[in-house]
Amino acid sequence: MKKKILILSGGISKERLISLDTGLQVAKVLKKNDYEIKISEPDNNLGKHINQFKPKVIFNALHGQFGEDGYIQTILESFRIPYTHSGVIASSIAMDKEISKKIFIKNKINTPKFITYSFNKKFSDLINEINKKLKFPVVVKPINEGSSVNVYICTKKNIKKILNLMKSYKKIMIEEFIGGREIQVAVMGDKKLGAIELKPKRKFYDYQAKYNTNAKTQHIIPVEMPKNKLDEVMNMALKAHKVIGCKGVTRSDFKFYKNKFYLLEINTQPGMTKLSLVPEIAAYNKISFKELIEWILKDASSKR
Ligand SMILES: Nc1ncnc2c1ncn2[C@@H]1O[C@H](COP(=O)(O)OP(=O)(O)O)[C@@H](O)[C@H]1O
Ligand SMILES: [Mg+2]
Repeated sequence: MKKKILILSGGISKERLISLDTGLQVAKVLKKNDYEIKISEPDNNLGKHINQFKPKVIFNALHGQFGEDGYIQTILESFRIPYTHSGVIASSIAMDKEISKKIFIKNKINTPKFITYSFNKKFSDLINEINKKLKFPVVVKPINEGSSVNVYICTKKNIKKILNLMKSYKKIMIEEFIGGREIQVAVMGDKKLGAIELKPKRKFYDYQAKYNTNAKTQHIIPVEMPKNKLDEVMNMALKAHKVIGCKGVTRSDFKFYKNKFYLLEINTQPGMTKLSLVPEIAAYNKISFKELIEWILKDASSKR
């Protein structure tokens, strides 16, 4: 009998389109393999879809808010059907850049210095704090968004304008700007899968550089780096995966500057689109897209 898989994609986050693409790619590869597939939105009808279809596993292809942050995971727990990737707690910790960075620091995983801002003090006081603790330029970003949505590099000159753009957020993060190279590492279960380097043609690895093929970010694999440094960054990613309590596949984003790695974040639901990095790292390590997706499905049924 065909194994029933329900793919959850779309959703309400700013990464909706990427999630739909991830869902389609997963459906395409599984269909070829005699699975029975249903694609569903995480909306009011989800319960009905699950009860009617009775999937063996739910593939969570959602990204961002309500898909990657523990909310949908809490709902999925109530159905008692295995679902892919991290559970409730790890998902919510990883999605919150402030909490996850505090855990990285506690565990001696190097991460850029940062402050948070809740729009509760004068801009001039904030500028003073930045001068004292971080120095310009800085990176301003939301605490719980992905795909470089609303990530800005700011100078003293333009920060006021950028902060005004971000007023809809309750709290944002301001980090020291780290120059140098962009390295991302995939972890699969309790194993380091591999690393990839990104050379964006744009100012940084922003939304266009990530998803617009014309923006031409160069993907470099294998990463040209001494073996001991590669081991170092892969060990940092594995440690981050473990201390956050992640499951399945994760992707950690690093900067490499003056021979030092800085962990920016860990992603618990890495994209699986044609331009996505985890499938590319897997392919380089002789794991096909099909094998990767089937491993994720199998892992979903193991203990959380
Ligand atoms: N502190 C920083 N210094 C330099 N570049 C940064 C910094 N933080 C983010 N960036 C750039 O912005 C991109 C997105 O930031 P990241 O923290 O990974 O958030 P997201 O969850 O949106 O992917 C990074 O891949 C990097 O190119
Ligand atoms: Mg990132």
